[in-house]
Amino acid sequence: MNKLIINTANDELEIVLCVKDTIFSKSEKSKLHHNETMLPLLDELLKENKIRLTDINELGVIIGPGSFTGIRVGIATIKAFRDSLNIQAKGINNLDYLFNLAKSQNENINIVAIKGSRDSYFVARYINVVVYKYERNLTLAELLKIAKDEKIGMFSKDENLNSFVVKFDPKVLLQSLNQSNDTQLIPVYYQLSQAENEKLKRQNLELGELQIEDLHAVAKIEKESIDYNPLKYNDFLDMFNNENYKFMLAKLDNEIVGFILIQITDEINITSIAVKKEFRNLGIATSLLNWLENFAKSKNVSTISLEVNSKNITAYLLYEKTGFKLRRQRKGYYSDGNDCFEMVKTLNLQ
Ligand SMILES: CC(C)(COP(=O)(O)OP(=O)(O)OC[C@H]1O[C@@H](n2cnc3c(N)ncnc32)[C@H](O)[C@@H]1OP(=O)(O)O)[C@@H](O)C(=O)NCCC(=O)NCCS
Repeated sequence: MNKLIINTANDELEIVLCVKDTIFSKSEKSKLHHNETMLPLLDELLKENKIRLTDINELGVIIGPGSFTGIRVGIATIKAFRDSLNIQAKGINNLDYLFNLAKSQNENINIVAIKGSRDSYFVARYINVVVYKYERNLTLAELLKIAKDEKIGMFSKDENLNSFVVKFDPKVLLQSLNQSNDTQLIPVYYQLSQAENEKLKRQNLELGELQIEDLHAVAKIEKESIDYNPLKYNDFLDMFNNENYKFMLAKLDNEIVGFILIQITDEINITSIAVKKEFRNLGIATSLLNWLENFAKSKNVSTISLEVNSKNITAYLLYEKTGFKLRRQRKGYYSDGNDCFEMVKTLNLQ
């Protein structure tokens, strides 16, 4: 198995080639110039080791958080290789890579941070190597509160923090690729671009009831959103005809862009929630959860529960941010080996 991994998310550009079990790599401090240096460096690495691109069987790329342009360049290149060579490509979260580096260079690191623009930080905290907490745009004060006196693994020194600066290591980049099961390659940026923010402001988000003819659109969003065991059209149809289930749609300019499906018993359980990829990170899921809270209150139901895969950091963060608390962690619950976080929100019905 020959693997190629590109990391353009940080100041230092890294390219790692693994041919059978031997690792070759090149790196270059080319801050802000990865678009110019990446392909020539890759070409050199391949030629020096007499490997052609067509000999590669698997690709990897750092998907962020990190440099906005760097991530775009890296992901676009890897996707182009993936599609033309017809091989698998996996995304590696930069914080997971940073954590693996810190662990391999200093046993005691449980928290890592990447400094973003405008003095904000991306942070991940790990307990037993499972991501426990992962936040965007923390201020320095918020990060200090979380970290207390703990050493923080970072890519570069930060005078304000008890930082431990890691060194790049191709072996660890390869290890991070082997741990990843992300094939979606969705970039994780420091923050939304202004254009994305403006886009939502211009459009009007509406929530509305689902009609039977909307089920195909819902099944399509579920399919593109859920890697593992997505619900199918017929499952949705059964639930549509079952009075214990209820759907709510999110629409932008009449296009269905997201949905929530709930099961109502003596508590409400979120069966599924998903937002179309190109409309994520614009507050749509938050609006659906706000609707759910009001709906639960109107039905006098005080408990909303859900289950989330421990690897689904985005969803975990969404729930945490909207007031859900961890009720139980079921070890190895999913057949992909990941834990299940059971989360719950208790409403005040007064
Ligand atoms: C999880 C999901 C529904 C979130 O939808 P969304 O509309 O993008 O969420 P929102 O824009 O309302 O985000 C709210 C919060 O979620 C978290 N979040 C959302 N996207 C994030 C990302 N890419 N990285 C980190 N946190 C993220 C943040 O805490 C965010 O709050 P903030 O913007 O103030 O930091 C969406 O990513 C999705 O459809 N994922 C695939 C399906 C899925 O995993 N469903 C859950 C199954 S349990």
